[in-house]
Amino acid sequence: MPALELLNLTKHFGDKIAVDGLSLSLEAGAFLGLLGRNGAGKSTTLKMVTGLLKPTSGSIRVLGIDIAAEPIAVKRQIGVMPEDMALLEYLTGPQYLRFVGRMYGLDEATIDARRLELFGKLDLAPAANALVADYSFGMKKKIALCAALIHGPRILFLDEPFEGIDAVTSRTIKDILQTLQQRGVTLILTTHILDLVERLCPLIAILDEGKLKGFGTLDELRGRANGESLENLFVGLVGGAQTGELSWL
Ligand SMILES: Nc1ncnc2c1ncn2[C@@H]1O[C@H](COP(=O)(O)OP(=O)(O)OP(=O)(O)O)[C@@H](O)[C@H]1O
Ligand SMILES: [Mg+2]
Repeated sequence: MPALELLNLTKHFGDKIAVDGLSLSLEAGAFLGLLGRNGAGKSTTLKMVTGLLKPTSGSIRVLGIDIAAEPIAVKRQIGVMPEDMALLEYLTGPQYLRFVGRMYGLDEATIDARRLELFGKLDLAPAANALVADYSFGMKKKIALCAALIHGPRILFLDEPFEGIDAVTSRTIKDILQTLQQRGVTLILTTHILDLVERLCPLIAILDEGKLKGFGTLDELRGRANGESLENLFVGLVGGAQTGELSWL
């Protein structure tokens, strides 16, 4: 049974087609890097597969469950870091995680133990008594990651988890994600950091104007272009690169 199965997934916003007939299947334990230019439809896709946005048409099955028919059953098993992080800013980090953990049915002792471990790993301990509203951007990202992990999800969807994160914590997060994959968790992340995808994600999908332009391992994407960098493959596939000349400079 695929961990995630998208069939003809489509999303219209008025005249704009944000996601256009996307079909994709991922086995359990897959680790997918979802790439695309700004506005390609990555976040819209993640919002639909995590039940935050209703598709215009098409179907989504998560761990064999149809998300339209059984959204709560799906949400119980997934962890999500959405694009806007969707935090409750007037709680402290620990209060927010207690709120999230309780929604997943965890008891307070379990939540607090997991939170302490996460705060230690992600260097959040100094932020324990501050309101999320007063966190730096990177700290907000980290607390959003804690919220996505606290219940032990079987599938993890992360929208730009590394943007704004310092190099040391990035390394820790990469290590956490690889450990999760080894334990059979399915991971899907979006990012614009291509060399990170090259090193971290065994599977890569490239979205362009809502359509799937490429899907496979880096070697499969390379085809006969042996040794080509992901950046060159990506720019070649989606096109549109401009020169840096500006008329007044
Ligand atoms: N709520 C909305 N209403 C109208 N248009 C929207 C809405 N959300 C997204 N769009 C449009 O859909 C397209 C895809 O947006 P999306 O946020 O999925 O892109 P993205 O690939 O995540 O881009 P980025 O890399 O900048 O995060 C864009 O043209 C965007 O303007
Ligand atoms: Mg986005």
